[in-house]
Amino acid sequence: MSVEIRRADGREEMDALLELRHRVFCVEQGVPKREEIDGRDEEAVHLVALDRERRRVQGTCRLLFVDRTIQLSRLAVEPESRRQGIATALLHEADREAAAAHAKRLVLHAQTYAKQLYAADGYEERGRTFVEAGIEHVAMEKRL
Ligand SMILES: CC(C)(COP(=O)(O)OP(=O)(O)OC[C@H]1O[C@@H](n2cnc3c(N)ncnc32)[C@H](O)[C@@H]1OP(=O)(O)O)[C@@H](O)C(=O)NCCC(=O)NCCS
Repeated sequence: MSVEIRRADGREEMDALLELRHRVFCVEQGVPKREEIDGRDEEAVHLVALDRERRRVQGTCRLLFVDRTIQLSRLAVEPESRRQGIATALLHEADREAAAAHAKRLVLHAQTYAKQLYAADGYEERGRTFVEAGIEHVAMEKRL
């Protein structure tokens, strides 16, 4: 599938990415809604992967800029569009955002089953695994 990766633009794309996050995190993974919607979406930059033909949001992630650190979270891809490189393309766009913002590092909490996704993009593990929203995670960081 051919996708365009960029910042979400307008209410319609914002609603679509929130709907995707709800289906993936709350319905598929059982994360409580109050943890998925944590009150920080307003201050964040949201990236989307848009299907060029159908103009549908196929993937998303969220970036929070805190001093010269970027916190990446809420990375989700439509189930039928997985293993086609969409999450990897979103991580590459996050790298471009980080470079443009002169950030020093990107940090995230990886679900341990998916840590290879981040390791392949240059993230390194920091510390022990822990449970967040009922799911095993590990902190990962990429220095720029
Ligand atoms: C994790 C997720 C975002 C990956 O999206 P994706 O677009 O399928 O990822 P990519 O195609 O870019 O995968 C790149 C690499 O990451 C790793 N990876 C991706 N999905 C994986 C999985 N389910 N299990 C193990 N490794 C995985 C693989 O090494 C993969 O390379 P390969 O396909 O050549 O084996 C997607 O499965 C998803 O939305 N999962 C549910 C939500 C979630 O867990 N989000 C991550 C929170 S940390």
